[in-house]
Amino acid sequence: MIEADRVVSTGAQAEDLALEPTVRPQRLQDYIGQSRVKEQMSIWLPAAKKRGRALDHVLLFGPPGLGKTTLATIVANELGVNITTVAAPAIEKQGDIAALVSKQEKNSVLFIDEIHRLNNKLAEMLYSAMEDFKLDIVIGEGPAAQSVSIPLQPFTLIGATTKAGGLASPLRARFGIVAHLEFYDDLSLQQIVMRSAGCLGIAIDAGGAMEIACRSRGTPRIANRLLRRVRDYAEIRADGRITKEVANSALNILEVDPKGLDLMDKKLILSMIDMFNGGPVGLESIAAAISEDPETIEDMIEPYLIQQGYIQRTRTGRIATEKAYRHFGRTFVSRDIAAKDSQLSLNL
Ligand code: ADE
Repeated sequence: MIEADRVVSTGAQAEDLALEPTVRPQRLQDYIGQSRVKEQMSIWLPAAKKRGRALDHVLLFGPPGLGKTTLATIVANELGVNITTVAAPAIEKQGDIAALVSKQEKNSVLFIDEIHRLNNKLAEMLYSAMEDFKLDIVIGEGPAAQSVSIPLQPFTLIGATTKAGGLASPLRARFGIVAHLEFYDDLSLQQIVMRSAGCLGIAIDAGGAMEIACRSRGTPRIANRLLRRVRDYAEIRADGRITKEVANSALNILEVDPKGLDLMDKKLILSMIDMFNGGPVGLESIAAAISEDPETIEDMIEPYLIQQGYIQRTRTGRIATEKAYRHFGRTFVSRDIAAKDSQLSLNL
C-alpha cells in the first residue's frame, strides 16, 4: 500500500483539501487543544494589532495534520489582514520570492508551508526581507551587474515545517516566535470530532466521537477523515447516527485498530521484530524491507509510533520496544539476553 492512500495518512488527501476549509476554525477561541501555543498567541496577536505593527515572524513546528495551516489562517483572521499561502516546493526561482514578498500589504501574512524544502539561495533572499523589509536583488550579470534594494511593506512570515533540524540557522534565527505543535490528546480530538460533525451536519454522540478520537493518532486531519468514513458506514449499515458501537464496527472494517495502528504500522513493526530481531536497525534497511521510501517512514509513519513508544530511535538504529511486541502478541526477549544468546551461538 502507498502511504499517501492510508486512511490514517497524515498527509492531506484530495477529499481533506476539499473539506478542511469547511471545518477549519476561523478564530483562536474556536481552536481546540494546543493550549500552550494558544495562550501565547492570545497575547501576541492583540498586542501586535493594538500597536498597528506586523506580528513577529512565526515558525510552526510539528508533524503533518496538526493544524499548522489552520493556525496561520487564524493568525491572519485575528489580525484582520490578508494571507497568501504557498508551499515551498512551488517556489522555484528568485522571481517567485520577489513576487511573493513584494505583493505583501502592510502587516499582512505570508504563509510558507514546508519551508524546510526551500532551497538555500531562495531562503537567503528572505533574510533581508524578514529583517529589514527590503528585497536585495542583483540585476544583470558580469561587470554590468547591479545590486538594488527594494523597500517592502512590513509583513509577517509564517513558516511551517515538520523537521525541527531542517532549517538553516540564519533563517531560523529570524523567527521571533517559535511554536511547537504537539499531538492532541483524546479529549481534545473528541471535541474536534464533535465540532466537525456539527459543521458537516453529522449526527454523533460523545461515545462515537471518543471512539474515533482514540484511533486518530493524535491528529485532527485523521480524526476528520475517519469521521467522514464512519458517517458513510452509519448511513448504510445503521440509522445514520454515529454511536460508539457504530464507530467501532466501521473502524474495524477500515482496519484501524483500537490504538489507531493500521496495516502499514503493523508491517513496519513486525518487519523490525521478525526480520531484524527487534533492531537496532537502520532506516534504509527497514525501508528496503517494506518497500517504502525512507523519508516517508521518517516523516509520516514513524513520528506517531515513536511518540507512543512502539519504536525508539537510538544511536545505532531503530528498535521495537516491549510495548510493540506486546501490542502484536509477540514474546519480548530482553535485548541483553538476546545479545548474549547470539554471542553464545557464535561461540558454539
Ligand atoms: N479542526 C482541525 N484542527 C482543529 C482544532 N485544533 N480545533 C478545532 N477544529 C479543528
